[in-house]
Amino acid sequence: MTTDKDTKPIFLEKNPYLIRRCTFKDLENVKEVNEKVLPEDYPFFFYKSILDKFPESFLVSYKKHDPDYILGYIMWRIERIPSKNSLRLINKGHLVSIAVIESYRRTGVASALLSKSMPEILKQNVNEYVLEVRVSNHGAVSLYQSFDFKIEGIKKKYYKDGENAYYMVHKIYKA
Ligand SMILES: CC(C)(COP(=O)(O)OP(=O)(O)OC[C@H]1O[C@@H](n2cnc3c(N)ncnc32)[C@H](O)[C@@H]1OP(=O)(O)O)[C@@H](O)C(=O)NCCC(=O)NCCS
Repeated sequence: MTTDKDTKPIFLEKNPYLIRRCTFKDLENVKEVNEKVLPEDYPFFFYKSILDKFPESFLVSYKKHDPDYILGYIMWRIERIPSKNSLRLINKGHLVSIAVIESYRRTGVASALLSKSMPEILKQNVNEYVLEVRVSNHGAVSLYQSFDFKIEGIKKKYYKDGENAYYMVHKIYKA
């Protein structure tokens, strides 16, 4: 359930956009942004299930004076999988998707979405953040590198059109 507190905007100085949690009402607009800018489309129920399961880290960026105008979003999921070196199960924060409409790019929207969502994922006791990105998507790769993601491997033909993905990981070192 979403409360007023959950959707209270986080004000970012000097920027013409704000960030808040995604709500059910935003999902069609989020889907529209995705369809405009990424070749990977998801059915509505997919967005809904991410929102239901991981609402804290599903964030949207919207125009300052128009809360329904979604210009970017980020969604994550938590995966519980065996660790590489033992049978112990560990939590990974998996970046499902991030996108920003063209007219707002290079203004820090994606960085703000990552900065605000990563601490939410951390609260779920994750050992690492992981993501896949097209090897040709140099802009996104540099964005992730600026958030300390490192290329750990290549997933061959990961995308439907046959393009390879970099598997990028940001490890969390716990004291
Ligand atoms: C990748 C994407 C999310 C970046 O969004 P953004 O809001 O423009 O990113 P930011 O403004 O926060 O950029 C932060 C930094 O990332 C790097 N970066 C972002 N886009 C870049 C680009 N096209 N080329 C080179 N570096 C880029 C830069 O270092 C940038 O800092 P700078 O502008 O001070 O140089 C956006 O281009 C997008 O939506 N692309 C289409 C969808 C997509 O590829 N999603 C990722 C799928 S894995």
